[in-house]
Amino acid sequence: MIAAMLRPLAVFQLRAYYDRAPSTMSAASHDAQRLATLGVAMTVVATLIFLLVVGIIGFGLWRRRNSPDALDSPADVRTPVDVSENWWILGGGLAMPVVVLAGVFLMTLSTMRAYRPAPAGAPEILVIGHQWWWEVRYPNDTVITANELHLPVGRAVHLELRSADVIHSFWAPNLEGKTDVIPGQQNEMVLRADSAGVYRAECAEYCGRQHANMALSIVAEAPADYQRWLSSTKAVAAAPANDTARAGLAVFMSHSCAFCHSIRGTPATGSFGPDLTHLGSRSTLAGGALPNTVGYLAGWISNADRLKPGTKMPASPMDGASLQAVVRYLEGLK
Ligand code: CUA
Repeated sequence: MIAAMLRPLAVFQLRAYYDRAPSTMSAASHDAQRLATLGVAMTVVATLIFLLVVGIIGFGLWRRRNSPDALDSPADVRTPVDVSENWWILGGGLAMPVVVLAGVFLMTLSTMRAYRPAPAGAPEILVIGHQWWWEVRYPNDTVITANELHLPVGRAVHLELRSADVIHSFWAPNLEGKTDVIPGQQNEMVLRADSAGVYRAECAEYCGRQHANMALSIVAEAPADYQRWLSSTKAVAAAPANDTARAGLAVFMSHSCAFCHSIRGTPATGSFGPDLTHLGSRSTLAGGALPNTVGYLAGWISNADRLKPGTKMPASPMDGASLQAVVRYLEGLK
């Protein structure tokens, strides 16, 4: 009951983390701007054709009603074929679609031509889709994180997209189009943010029960901040700062947590779930489904399934003191 009430609250709180609505109409990159322009152009063309067709139908109905030889029943079909009616069918049914579709095709080609490959030396980032979270690894796996991707603003990065289980799709609507993430195949994508900010990316291919809760924050920041983030995320986990945190680490190691999660610098080296080495510095939990706060983290550890039904994270029942200690420890992992 309480968990059911918490979900909409979490969604509301999470809005504050993103600088823009995740919409293709709110472009924050050159490519996204081209896609948005193409989208508007196609919508305008489709609207004009719709209005034209509706207008012609309306005119036909009006003319028929007002013509002196109006037909009363559908059986009274006029038999002699008027040549001008053939022209309507040829023009409206063949010529016009060919012209319109060719125009749209050319617009699409010109948009695709603007898509540039990653320049030499662009940062390489490996993104792995899991049910239902994103793993993010930087070169040589020196930096491993989850559900958060940092990149320097104004600079293209090269993404390698892989899946650990089923087909997902990586979509950052403010920055780029969609690219499928397919098991056994490596897809590639160039991502570039032209204005700094935190953007929401999400899975755009139905991948199971929690498909809707498979989001990723994209943090586009000044190059100096990006470098600072890289070096702090590369570091192993901070040692527990006090007795509560020390007890928390012991709880983490003695419960099943360490089988699935890694905390670099500790004996926890599981690889099934997200790397938690710097969990405290991340803004969300559970694939972007929950804000990363002490309360949500405690609820997530005790019974994750109540907050994200179907999640692979098992419940870890423990007494209040242990829960408090492990939450303190994890939140301290900045
Ligand atoms: Cu992953 Cu939908």
